[in-house]
Amino acid sequence: MVTGNQVRGWAERKFPKMQEYRRHFHENPELSFQEKETSAYIRAVLEQRGILFEAGVGGPWGIVARIKGDQPGPCIAFRADMDALGIREETNLSFSSAREGVMHACGHDFHMAALLGLAETLQEKREFVKGTVVFIFQFAEEIPPGGAVSMIEAGCLDGVDRIYGAHVDPQLPAGEVGVLEGAYMAASDSFFVDIRGGGGHGSCPYEAQDTMTTAATAILNINQIVSRLIDPLESAVISTCQIHGGVSYNVIPAVISLGGTIRTYKRETADFIRDEIEQAVKAACSMYGTEYSYRFERGYPCLCNRERETAVVKKAAERTGHCRCREIRPTMVGEDFARYLEKVPGAFFRVGVQNEKLGAAYPLHHSHFQADETGLIAALEMFLQIYLAETEQ
Ligand code: NI
Repeated sequence: MVTGNQVRGWAERKFPKMQEYRRHFHENPELSFQEKETSAYIRAVLEQRGILFEAGVGGPWGIVARIKGDQPGPCIAFRADMDALGIREETNLSFSSAREGVMHACGHDFHMAALLGLAETLQEKREFVKGTVVFIFQFAEEIPPGGAVSMIEAGCLDGVDRIYGAHVDPQLPAGEVGVLEGAYMAASDSFFVDIRGGGGHGSCPYEAQDTMTTAATAILNINQIVSRLIDPLESAVISTCQIHGGVSYNVIPAVISLGGTIRTYKRETADFIRDEIEQAVKAACSMYGTEYSYRFERGYPCLCNRERETAVVKKAAERTGHCRCREIRPTMVGEDFARYLEKVPGAFFRVGVQNEKLGAAYPLHHSHFQADETGLIAALEMFLQIYLAETEQ
């Protein structure tokens, strides 16, 4: 059996490469569904290492690489997401985003670098590969419908027995990992409302259908759904996050559009909220004589870690001999890794990237977000130890 120290050695030796990849991705971020250059870079690295892959899986930028061992064994998949966010970077890093208004603020640069590190290490140490290892580079995690659904339809999980993925966590110190068995990331759905009236003069709301007051009332009604209509022991969040309407200070707008997100842990709660939001809007419209159109969009399902694979993650942390594995709290954040877990057993865990030397621990999706790159070593060790644990039996 390979020792924890040996695996650590492999991961440490791979660190400069992973750092180089991560910095390249960080400097050249691309938005969801537009990961053209990112995909080309990954393909070039895989080609250079002689790792076989399929490109254009589920969309132009999806990549599935495979390494087959000489010995029989299970088919274990690992996944990294590739997209960045529409945020203007303010970190002042030497490898800050070279693209105005686009930033890897969710650590997906880190995820790709760690997965390339895993692919290279296992390619170099083919004697440890039993069965097949699958590396899924998934485009568009941030924006529903997300890349996972089309990559699965295109067959990225065909023959896969189990799947693992990881996400950076700025609340966990670098070198630590976190996991939770069962449901731990929320389902995320969205809603869109258009409120219509005939428009009118701001001086005479009594002669118009007041879309503005309807929108305000609708938002307040919507905010009462969770507090008044949902069992407090259930988890639910509704946030109206978009409001568009009006071009002049003295004209009642003809249309006001609202958009928001719904986070839940149970399908029936989401369905209930879907109907109640429409009721809330309808009630507001009937007060002011306005009309509405309403659209609910199903997003990512709830992410549920399996018992056995969660135990594998914990065991892998133990085998590293130094990565502390914390039990983390459930979150209302969504993640389309959930779609893979609907198809095959697996687990999604967190990798710490916090370091006091980087200053304040800014959250994900923040323009100042920074990740301690030494977390890449722990991420690679974890992937390797998970792989070894899965193939040793
Ligand atoms: Ni993310």
